[in-house]
Amino acid sequence: MTDEVSFLLNGAPVRVSDQPATRTLLDWLREDRGLTGTKEGCNEGDCGACTVIITDADGSKAMNGCILFLPQLQGKAVRTIEGISGPGGEMHPVQAAMLDHHGSQCGFCTPGIVASLAAAHANGDTAFDDVLAGNLCRCTGYAPIIRAAEATASEPVPAWMQTDREAVAALQKAAMPIAPRTADDLAAWYADTPEATLIAGATDVGLWVTKALRDLAPVAFLNQCADLRTIEDTPGGLRLGAMVTFSDLLPVIAERHPSFAELLRRFACVQVRNAATIGGNIANGSPIGDSPPALIALGAQLHLRKGEARRTIPLEAFFLDYGKQDRAPGEFVDAVTIPSQPDRLRCYKLSKRFDQDISAVCGCLSVSVETGTVTKARLAYGGMAGIPKRATNAEAALIGQPWEEATVRAAMAAYPSDFTPLSDMRASAAYRLETAANMLLRYFHEDHSTLTNVLEVSA
Ligand SMILES: Cc1cc2nc3c(=O)[nH]c(=O)nc-3n(C[C@H](O)[C@H](O)[C@H](O)COP(=O)(O)OP(=O)(O)OC[C@H]3O[C@@H](n4cnc5c(N)ncnc54)[C@H](O)[C@@H]3O)c2cc1C
Ligand code: FES
Ligand code: FES
Repeated sequence: MTDEVSFLLNGAPVRVSDQPATRTLLDWLREDRGLTGTKEGCNEGDCGACTVIITDADGSKAMNGCILFLPQLQGKAVRTIEGISGPGGEMHPVQAAMLDHHGSQCGFCTPGIVASLAAAHANGDTAFDDVLAGNLCRCTGYAPIIRAAEATASEPVPAWMQTDREAVAALQKAAMPIAPRTADDLAAWYADTPEATLIAGATDVGLWVTKALRDLAPVAFLNQCADLRTIEDTPGGLRLGAMVTFSDLLPVIAERHPSFAELLRRFACVQVRNAATIGGNIANGSPIGDSPPALIALGAQLHLRKGEARRTIPLEAFFLDYGKQDRAPGEFVDAVTIPSQPDRLRCYKLSKRFDQDISAVCGCLSVSVETGTVTKARLAYGGMAGIPKRATNAEAALIGQPWEEATVRAAMAAYPSDFTPLSDMRASAAYRLETAANMLLRYFHEDHSTLTNVLEVSA
């Protein structure tokens, strides 16, 4: 059960206690508060019907209420569709424009779409295709919705939408035993309670509750550990705390490795990226997580901590086998460091849909060439094995050879000795093997200025 959690709900302070620690915001809103404007569609982060606006000291973000647990709200402000309209019932400009532009038919998706657009409106974000990638509308179609969004871009943010940020600063930040405030507190607690489930952004863990109906106790929420959310330039490179979200990371990595940033733009959707952390994406050990291949291609180092003991290993060494990582009981992911280097990284994500889809194959490739000869190659893949894995034989076929198509073709022939992928609902083994090798050829051609972008392909 939670200790008391305090936050603002549509501008008014609330205190919630005696709730299961993994009660979702969506269930609580609808069942306990009668705020049924926020809808339940998929209950797994995919459809955006449950989108609400969460504000903290860093600003306002759209998030999925169905995979947000109540303790994650401590000290924050929640605005549901009921609080996006004004205190006297005035429509938010986005709501008015949705009416004017016929942006709603059945209306089931509409509260979530309005919440996503109102968050974007508050932040001056006009990349509406990205903003709406996590909001599924089955009947209206997106053209009128985007027209509504565009119509409101220059409208001022209503006064009632501007109060949350100041108000959260004044909220008392009570410590909760299940939410340590620092990495030191977490380290001490977790070393003594190694059976606990750590909850970072809950974009994986949320589904264990809403879909697998698992009881996760004891749990610890990491979101109060501000010192796990830092991004630092260090002599070893860019150090990312485990609690850095993909929304935090995207603009920072865009300056160093734009192709990694483009991969992250296709990581889930805004709502999920606002919650999902780099530490969670590594610690879950998934063979199809998108950040590990990019980080491995960049030679990232993983920092682990248990109590006062710290160790650093190459990230690729963390993934031992399917479902098995090099992490001791009571040990947690502290941070990951990306060494500084010239940008040679290209990331290619193959999935059935462009947005908001899990990779069938994710290839992240970095090849260094000096005076026409390959000096270094790191070809890292997701979706090709039970763990994120490098194509070491293909790398060996490249290194020391001239950077030309014949070398690339010889390296492509080595892929079957590197990988024995599975066939599953996302792709067949043969498709995976062929496309993974073709990514190297694509890299070669792109390196010779033939840039490709699937968004520009037309029939
Ligand atoms: C709709 C949707 C779309 C998605 N799309 C993608 C996608 O495109 N690409 C992709 O890679 N993933 C995707 N995911 C999966 C998920 O978002 C990522 O794996 C995410 O990075 C998990 O991070 P989190 O902070 O939410 O982790 P959580 O769910 O909180 O935790 C995940 C696991 O890591 C453990 N953990 C978390 N932090 C730590 C730590 N610091 N130390 C030790 N253990 C820790 C937890 O105990 C748990 O086992 C998607 C998920 C959803 C719901
Ligand atoms: S109900 Fe579908 S994303 Fe939450
Ligand atoms: S209006 Fe019906 S789902 Fe969007």
